[in-house]
Amino acid sequence: MAGHVRTLPLCRHRKEIYLMLYKKIKKYINYKILRCKPTQVVIETTNRCNLNCPFCLVGMQNELLDQHGSTSHDLMSRTQGSMSPETFDTVRKRLRDFGIKKASLHFQGEPFLNKNTSQFARLLKSDGLYVGVFTNGQAFTDQIIEEIADVEIGLIRFSVDGASEETYTVNRVGGTFEKVFENMKKVVKAHAGKKTRIEWQFLALKNNEHEINTARQMAKEININFFVKGFRETNPELAPVNPEYKPHYLKKPCSDIYKQLGIYWNGDVVPCCYDVDGKEIMGNAVEQSLKEIWNSDKYRDFRSKVDNSKKQSSSEPLICKNCLRWQ
Ligand SMILES: C[S@@+](CC[C@H](N)C(=O)[O-])C[C@H]1O[C@@H](n2cnc3c(N)ncnc32)[C@H](O)[C@@H]1O
Ligand code: SF4
Repeated sequence: MAGHVRTLPLCRHRKEIYLMLYKKIKKYINYKILRCKPTQVVIETTNRCNLNCPFCLVGMQNELLDQHGSTSHDLMSRTQGSMSPETFDTVRKRLRDFGIKKASLHFQGEPFLNKNTSQFARLLKSDGLYVGVFTNGQAFTDQIIEEIADVEIGLIRFSVDGASEETYTVNRVGGTFEKVFENMKKVVKAHAGKKTRIEWQFLALKNNEHEINTARQMAKEININFFVKGFRETNPELAPVNPEYKPHYLKKPCSDIYKQLGIYWNGDVVPCCYDVDGKEIMGNAVEQSLKEIWNSDKYRDFRSKVDNSKKQSSSEPLICKNCLRWQ
C-alpha cells in the first residue's frame, strides 16, 4: 500500500513528460515536416464547364450566396479558357524543376473539355508523377476513353451525385444520368487489367441522400469503387440531414498550403484549391519558376498570415476566412 502511494506522483510525473514530448514532436512535425515546399499540384486544364452545378464554387459562398442564392459554376468571374500545349510545356518543366510528385488534372471546370488532357497526363506520367483526374463524366467520347486508358493514370474519379435521372439532373445541371452511367461502364471496361483506380464519388446532399444505397448497389454491379463525399456547405440549404454524411473539419492553422499549389489554365499560381476565382494569385508559372513564386514576398506574407490566423484573425486572407475545410 505504502509503495503504491509512493509511485503515484512518479506516474503523474511520467505522464507529464510524455505529454511534453508529444507536444514537442507534434510541433516538430508541424513546422519542420509539414511546413516544407509543396509536392502536389492541381492543374486546371480548363475552367470551362459543360455543367452548372449549384454548389460548385467552394470558398465563394460568403460572396455569392446572399447576392445570387447559389454558388454555381457560371458565377465565376475569371476569364474562361483552356491550357494550351505551349503553356503546358512550360508548366511541365516548372513542375520537374520544383520536384512536384503528384498532379491532379482538374481544378475549376471539366478537364475532358480540353482535348489535350490525356496527352498532358501521358507527359506527366512519363516524368514519373502520379496523375489523377476528377470528372463529371459527361464529355467522354470513345476516343478520349481509349486515349486515357492507354495512359493508365493513377486515378479517375467520377462525380455523380444521384442514382436516378430525376435527382442527378438537379445537382449536375446540364448532364444526364444515363450518359454518365454509360461512360462509367465504358471507362471501367477500357481499364480492365490496368492499375488505374476508378471511383464513383457521390456528394451527399439533402435531395440525394435517400439514393445512396441504390447508388452503392449500382456501383457494385458495374465494378466501380464507390464512396460518399461530405458536402462542403457552400449553401446550407443543400446540406444532408443525416449527420453521418457531414464533412470533417480540420483545426486551423491550415497546413494544406505547404503541401499543394494550384495552377490555372493560363499559368497563374494560387496557394489553395479553394481559391477558385483568383483572389490570391501569387505569380505566373509561364513567366516565373515555381521556386521564385514560392519564395516571393507575396507568398511568404500569405503563409505567415495563414500560420498566424488564430492569433491575428483580422489579417487572415479572405479565402481562408471562408474556408470549408479548416475551421
Ligand atoms: C470543381 S469539380 C471539377 C472537376 C469536375 N468538373 C467534377 O465535377 O468532378 C472538383 C470536385 O469538387 C467537388 N465539389 C464541388 N462542389 C463541392 C462542394 N460544395 N462540396 C464538396 N465537393 C464539391 C466535385 O464533386 C468534384 O469532385
Ligand atoms: S461539373 Fe464540376 S466544375 Fe462543372 S459545375 Fe459541376 S462541380 Fe463545377
